[in-house]
Amino acid sequence: MRRKIVVANWKMHGSLSTNQSLLEGYLRHLSSLQHTDVVVCVPYPYLAQAQTTLQNSNIHWGAQNLAKFPVGAYTGEVSAEMLRDFGSEYVILGHSERSTAYCESSENIADKFMMAKTHQIKPILCVGETLQERESGVMERVIAEQLNHLLISRGAEVFRGAIISYEPIWAIGTGLSATPEQAQSMHEFIRALIKADEGDGSNPTRIIYGGSVNPNNASLLMAMPDVDGALVGRCALSSEEFVKICLAAEKLASE
Ligand code: PGA
Repeated sequence: MRRKIVVANWKMHGSLSTNQSLLEGYLRHLSSLQHTDVVVCVPYPYLAQAQTTLQNSNIHWGAQNLAKFPVGAYTGEVSAEMLRDFGSEYVILGHSERSTAYCESSENIADKFMMAKTHQIKPILCVGETLQERESGVMERVIAEQLNHLLISRGAEVFRGAIISYEPIWAIGTGLSATPEQAQSMHEFIRALIKADEGDGSNPTRIIYGGSVNPNNASLLMAMPDVDGALVGRCALSSEEFVKICLAAEKLASE
């Protein structure tokens, strides 16, 4: 069975003092988890704080983006090696809030994905369709196009050990999550597309759901057979709500 994974995406929220109480709130209630990986993706300036606070715990940390180049004259960019310097094990890539506002192409995202892998940072690759695309029934084609760049150039093996986060754009930050059935159907499609069930299962691809996950819908979503966890935005900013979502994952994973 694949381990569950719950990822907090803090986006551009936080301050040294609010982060500290949030992280301590996570730590207070999540230190005994055994079947669930918990990851916190913080804004770059707080990686050192995440490292200092979480380094002796079972909670992992990471960033929300990285540069596609290893080093050089790229003002404002942060390299994979820099993320490693602060112990980052994960990085969110291709989130729709970046791909739309900062015009990130699939090629760019694929380059970043390979850069993360080269540095032993696990990519959390986001894919998702707009409401219009869902309503016109082309959502699977859209998701396939988002994954095809890597799939065709690198083969399905590139996704082994990575995390794919299915994030319907219409569900992010809107309070309107996908139904468990909608999530399951897309996760099943993605799993087949990337041939995730091939291989010996030792380094599985986990497919998580993101978009208005909260303590009320988390169990139902994560109980679906192909939903391996959640990417949580707003509810990760409350330790109480995030802890409830992680505990829901743990309960499902230990059943
Ligand atoms: P949300 O964000 O939980 O606030 O909808 C999810 C995301 O952006 O991944």
